[in-house]
Amino acid sequence: MIFPDAMLGMLGGGQLGRMFTLAAHSMGYRVAVLDPDPLSPAGAIADVHLKAAYQDREALQQLADTCAAVTTEFENVPADSLRWLASHCTVRPGGDAVAVAQDRSREKAFFTACGLGVAPYAVIESAADLAQPEVTLFPGILKRARFGYDGKGQARVASVDAARKAFAAFGADTCVLEALVDLACEVSVVVARGADGTTRVFPVAENQHRNGILDVCIVPARITAELAANAELAATQIAERLAYQGVLAVEFFVTKDGRLLVNEIAPRPHNSGHYTIDACATSQYEQQARALCGLPLGDTKLLSPVVMVNLLGEAWQSGVPDWQRLFENPRAKLHLYGKHEARPGRKMGHFTVLGDSADAALAQALTLRAALCPAFALAPA
Ligand SMILES: Nc1ncnc2c1ncn2[C@@H]1O[C@H](COP(=O)(O)OP(=O)(O)OP(=O)(O)O)[C@@H](O)[C@H]1O
Ligand SMILES: [Mg+2]
Repeated sequence: MIFPDAMLGMLGGGQLGRMFTLAAHSMGYRVAVLDPDPLSPAGAIADVHLKAAYQDREALQQLADTCAAVTTEFENVPADSLRWLASHCTVRPGGDAVAVAQDRSREKAFFTACGLGVAPYAVIESAADLAQPEVTLFPGILKRARFGYDGKGQARVASVDAARKAFAAFGADTCVLEALVDLACEVSVVVARGADGTTRVFPVAENQHRNGILDVCIVPARITAELAANAELAATQIAERLAYQGVLAVEFFVTKDGRLLVNEIAPRPHNSGHYTIDACATSQYEQQARALCGLPLGDTKLLSPVVMVNLLGEAWQSGVPDWQRLFENPRAKLHLYGKHEARPGRKMGHFTVLGDSADAALAQALTLRAALCPAFALAPA
């Protein structure tokens, strides 16, 4: 086990890295962040900020020399950097598991091999792959196999012709064409697997998206106990099959006919797990630190129903949100990420509201959002 005040390394300096750093600091660890952005949210509070590229050998060497263990906060960190680091220090999760999460076609093949349902799809490697009669996949979504996030690198396509155009616009890089699923709702599970192979799942979150970006997250998810148990089981199976070490998020679709389909995984804490900071016995970030350090995992019990609302750059469009309204609510908690420029679609922060039930927390959260930033709250989905 790695104890405080060891130095822990973090590849990536965004908000997930920042919240990890806060948790690690409160446990007494030191943190070194690698992120080329001089204004990175995690770099600003870390003990050490290495401002270099993720493949930069000198920076990686410095992490290897100074850190007891290294983890990541985003899936597009080069898997080879993780593999190189692993020959010098403890790295969790490993490069191989991250490589699966980096590629939608590998990911889907892996879910299928686990016996889990996925949306009907085809891998598109060339325009010729779109010549086949895949009518059952339309209307569909063409998604780049790599480097997509927050709905970027995706196009809704109603026909083969539209799919061809979108494929060309994506530079003819490998894509998956996915049938549009008739969604009842979306849910996610954050699971942690410790160095000793023990797994613990956080309660299932229900996720509402706007423009392909997570908007509101409701916990506990308003789905049947059976579906929730299946989602937890699927997440656990995925972590086990990957021999995963660390925190992993699994996104699911729940179809109108009651099926659970795996959408994608993220090899790190997740936006839909932010609620754990304020509403669980252990946060997903403390859990990440525990798994990284080989400590026993913490209790994931939900202490109160909770709703999280993302604050995107749009919320600043008519000035700074009215924070007074938020602080007047004794069950609301504000989390800002220290980003300097509020661009549309940029995740600037979030708030959570605790409630006596998920529905009560949701009503309060939506009222609060409307009070904080009326224009953003009313923007069409
Ligand atoms: N096959 C589908 N049927 C219906 N809706 C879909 C489908 N695929 C994606 N979506 C919608 O688009 C959202 C984003 O898709 P997806 O999770 O694949 O992309 P992403 O860019 O990786 O997003 P993120 O990284 O933010 O989770 C989903 O959460 C869902 O709301
Ligand atoms: Mg997603």
